Amino acid sequence: MSTLLDARGIFKDYGRIKVLKNVDLDLGEGERHVVIGPNGAGKTTLFKVLSGETRPSAGTISLNGRDVTHEAGFMRTRSGVGRSFQVARVFLEMTALDNIIVAVEAREATRRPWAGLLRLSAARTVADEAESLLAALGLAAARETPAETLSHGDRKRLELAMNLALRPKLLMLDEPTAGMSPTDRQAAVNLIDKVVRENGLSLLLTEHDMGVVFQLGTRISVLHYGEVVVSGLPAEVRANPLVREIYLGRNAGHA
Ligand SMILES: Nc1ncnc2c1ncn2[C@@H]1O[C@H](COP(=O)(O)OP(=O)(O)O)[C@@H](O)[C@H]1O
Ligand SMILES: [Mg+2]
Repeated sequence: MSTLLDARGIFKDYGRIKVLKNVDLDLGEGERHVVIGPNGAGKTTLFKVLSGETRPSAGTISLNGRDVTHEAGFMRTRSGVGRSFQVARVFLEMTALDNIIVAVEAREATRRPWAGLLRLSAARTVADEAESLLAALGLAAARETPAETLSHGDRKRLELAMNLALRPKLLMLDEPTAGMSPTDRQAAVNLIDKVVRENGLSLLLTEHDMGVVFQLGTRISVLHYGEVVVSGLPAEVRANPLVREIYLGRNAGHA
């Protein structure tokens, strides 16, 4: 299994606040690595550092063996990293379909800058692709609905569709089921499982819900006050006494 993402010795400080402390995290091709940890542990900050939204204070990040530590986020998108946000980022005034069309066009514009010349014939292909993504993510009924009036769960799905439109190799999802009902959550997990399988993606996920963690993860790392305290196979992590104490024990209800 070749290593897709490799982060070594990551520190992130905001002034005197030390949010990430010497985090090592790697992800092999086809792996599904879940980062868990209590609120405020630094999960979202780690995602921001890995996706290039913010620079680490120290440490290195490589993608496919290439050092990308000082590369801007959009370059990482071009290198195949797709990322969703804890609060879905979509174009609120545009319909679900148009949101996906924008994402497909953005991909085409960066990968084939000359595609604009073929715009008329390309427009149909783009629309077809957007329609099939819409259907694949169960959003066909929301085709003409402006994103701002979509339910929370549908907005998350739309964001996922936009991510897939970029044809990533690595999908990073920050608490994709946060704020969902148990039914919606299970549907979202099934959907993530399906798209990861069908597109042969690698997955890096942060999650609060333990059911989701153990259903999706092939590897789990536990972040606690900005440090990775345990990393291993789901069964190892589940059995780890420290994890039981800080995460699965007294706070299991919250988790
Ligand atoms: N831009 C920032 N400036 C200062 N502190 C921040 C900033 N972003 C996050 N933090 C702090 O870093 C800690 C971890 O936050 P976060 O990464 O959002 O954790 P999690 O996603 O695990 O809940 C929190 O204490 C938070 O207040
Ligand atoms: Mg977070």
